[in-house]
Amino acid sequence: MASKHQLFFNLVLICTTLLPISMAGDPDILTDFIIPPNAIVNGSLFTFTGMRSLVNSPIPSNFTVLKASMVQFPALEGQSVSYAVLEFPNDSVNPPHTHPRASELLFLLGGSLEVGFVDTTNKLYTQTLEFGDMFVFPKGLVHFQYNNGSNGPALALSAFGSANAGTVSVPTTVFNTSIFDGILAKSFKIDIATVEKLKAGLAH
Ligand SMILES: *[C@@H]1O[C@H](CO)[C@@H](O)[C@H](O)[C@H]1NC(C)=O
Ligand SMILES: *[C@@H]1O[C@H](CO)[C@@H](O)[C@H](O)[C@H]1NC(C)=O
Ligand SMILES: *[C@@H]1O[C@H](CO)[C@@H](O)[C@H](O)[C@H]1NC(C)=O
Ligand SMILES: *[C@@H]1O[C@H](CO)[C@@H](O)[C@H](O)[C@H]1NC(C)=O
Ligand SMILES: *[C@@H]1O[C@H](CO)[C@@H](O)[C@H](O)[C@H]1NC(C)=O
Repeated sequence: MASKHQLFFNLVLICTTLLPISMAGDPDILTDFIIPPNAIVNGSLFTFTGMRSLVNSPIPSNFTVLKASMVQFPALEGQSVSYAVLEFPNDSVNPPHTHPRASELLFLLGGSLEVGFVDTTNKLYTQTLEFGDMFVFPKGLVHFQYNNGSNGPALALSAFGSANAGTVSVPTTVFNTSIFDGILAKSFKIDIATVEKLKAGLAH
């Protein structure tokens, strides 16, 4: 039988090895940067010009996200950061969603936004943001943003603590996948016809 000291030692070992993992963002890399296959390494590799499309462009008619994550900007791999530009025409919403791999720091660059997130005790935190405000959405929690249009279109820049924060949209994940109607009907305490109506609304 292991001694008390041995058990304590093992516990400390488990805690000290697991804690940094559970507190970390993206895993650390052992090189300065990761070079994508066949890439030429010069300043251009570290430059993303995809947001130039925003300059002098008209306001989109729907809520629009422009991402600069590792997918669009491969040099971000291993750097634990990424951006998204969010454009909100009047009366538009970024529906409830989570980012499983990162917290989000939103900086409102124009207009106003109603934002909120729900914590793991189901408590809702909301705020009305004015031009110039920042708001942090804690990692993994369901959150949303809405522009009621009273100050015209809204523009926000969101920074993420991951090169690939990931997005899980609540409406889409629940009602635009192949989860059986019967399971959804029971889960939401509604009938199959209502499930199908919700599914139809998201299908296009
Ligand atoms: C990097 O290399 C590419 C491919 O040769 C070239 O097109 C680009 O102009 C270079 N960028 C810089 C900043 O030197
Ligand atoms: C905007 O959203 C509406 C309703 O979902 C859709 O009918 C329309 O095609 C969208 N417009 C654009 C430009 O994506
Ligand atoms: C619209 O949003 C603004 C600022 O976010 C807020 O002051 C106003 O009360 C809102 N109007 C309505 C009708 O909700
Ligand atoms: C958006 O709302 C603002 C302020 O309420 C208004 O001045 C503007 O005309 C609206 N834009 C559109 C495209 O409806
Ligand atoms: C629902 O899924 C279909 C098929 O994958 C896709 O074309 C459509 O854009 C999705 N709708 C939404 C709102 O994401």
